[in-house]
Amino acid sequence: MSKFIIKGPVKLNGEVNISGSKNAALPILFASLLIKEVIEIKNIPKIKDIDVVIKLFIHLGVKIKNDKSLIINASNLYKKFNFPKNLIKSIRASIWLVSPLLVRLKKINMSLPGGCSIGMRPIDLHIKYLQKLGANICIKNNYIIASIDNKFIGSHILMKKNSVGATISVILASIYAKNTTIIDNAAQEPEIEDLINFLNIMGANIKGGGTKKIIIKGVLKLKGGIYRIMDDRIEAGTFLIAAAISKGYILCKNTNPKNLKIVLKKLKYTGAEIKIGKNWCSINMHNKRPKAVNIITGPYPKFPTDMQPQFTLLNCISLGSSIVEETIFENRFLYIHELNKMGAKIFINKNKVFCQGVSTLYSTQKIKATDLRASISLVLAACIAIGITIIDNIDYIDRGYENIEKKLISLGAKIKRLK
Ligand code: UD1
Repeated sequence: MSKFIIKGPVKLNGEVNISGSKNAALPILFASLLIKEVIEIKNIPKIKDIDVVIKLFIHLGVKIKNDKSLIINASNLYKKFNFPKNLIKSIRASIWLVSPLLVRLKKINMSLPGGCSIGMRPIDLHIKYLQKLGANICIKNNYIIASIDNKFIGSHILMKKNSVGATISVILASIYAKNTTIIDNAAQEPEIEDLINFLNIMGANIKGGGTKKIIIKGVLKLKGGIYRIMDDRIEAGTFLIAAAISKGYILCKNTNPKNLKIVLKKLKYTGAEIKIGKNWCSINMHNKRPKAVNIITGPYPKFPTDMQPQFTLLNCISLGSSIVEETIFENRFLYIHELNKMGAKIFINKNKVFCQGVSTLYSTQKIKATDLRASISLVLAACIAIGITIIDNIDYIDRGYENIEKKLISLGAKIKRLK
């Protein structure tokens, strides 16, 4: 694991290009296993989670050209029913191998997926709904063992919980299913809409993307084509917070502010000047300290849990006190202890944190990143803290942020990576 050495305090100012969305790219890549013709995917972010998918695809015999865009040819898959455990375990998204491979190979045997340690992250809903669509699937000794007789069979699925991952598993299973699948209480995240746009362009028949009711009519064939992935709304939100905490100005380019409505609204409450255009948004703190704002995370369009650690950091250096409530993942406060080492005054009580804003954070030599969003929150904290901070285990950040040092340095940060 590498370390970041960060010298603060700095004001983060300037323009930044937002990369393609991690959480749209991952399901779209797994969906490409359903297509036997060549597809080209543009705006894929260069991040570690995508590298893992590429390795899984190579293991499966998918032909890949990884240049400016990703060219994928999944016409011939090896009959591989087992996967390297280290790859499967390193990302949560590997669960999306199950539906396409049941369609293509009728059988799969893989270890339980991993991902960031932010909670229990069960897969019971994926299993239950794939069973409802006709799969034989169970978990034995931490392995998923699944098969299907012939085809998935469309069904009516009423989602018990608003799960992004389970909504995607059901969509992928239903594309070629016999009959129609209706998902009620589906997740409405923009990344799911992006996946549905991709699939429809390639010939699927899916209605209701971005709403709670998704209707998928089974089709016989998907064709090849070109698709451009949406921008990463969480990356854009992260840079807006970087400006807010450092009293600076940042303009995010190539991002659709419509997907960031609740984050922009909360940032306005802090006293920031927010401007938006069709594919950009900017924030200007005019050298003022932000005001603390309460947030409660929830499924889209509510406040994204993936922005919770960054917004909590903002609250911890703001004027006044605030409450942050996490309703999605039960273990997403591991970074709080580290922020407190830097002078923050944050108290955890079950799924809520109480922040008493402080005017200054101070560097410390021993900070440890525990997951992707925790790492960026600590990096931003170090940028505004007085002195030199060393953050251990920083590789988590590469899972989801493209060129993060380069982008932050271009905005004025002083960061060095030690391998
Ligand atoms: C996805 C995102 C992640 C984001 C999260 C919530 C990807 C690769 N990851 O994760 O960045 O933070 O959505 O917006 O897109 N649950 C169950 N059983 C299941 C599945 C989920 O109980 O079978 C629970 C989870 O523990 C959690 C809630 O449902 O409490 C929502 O999880 P889900 O939306 O499925 O998150 P992921 O798809 O893992």
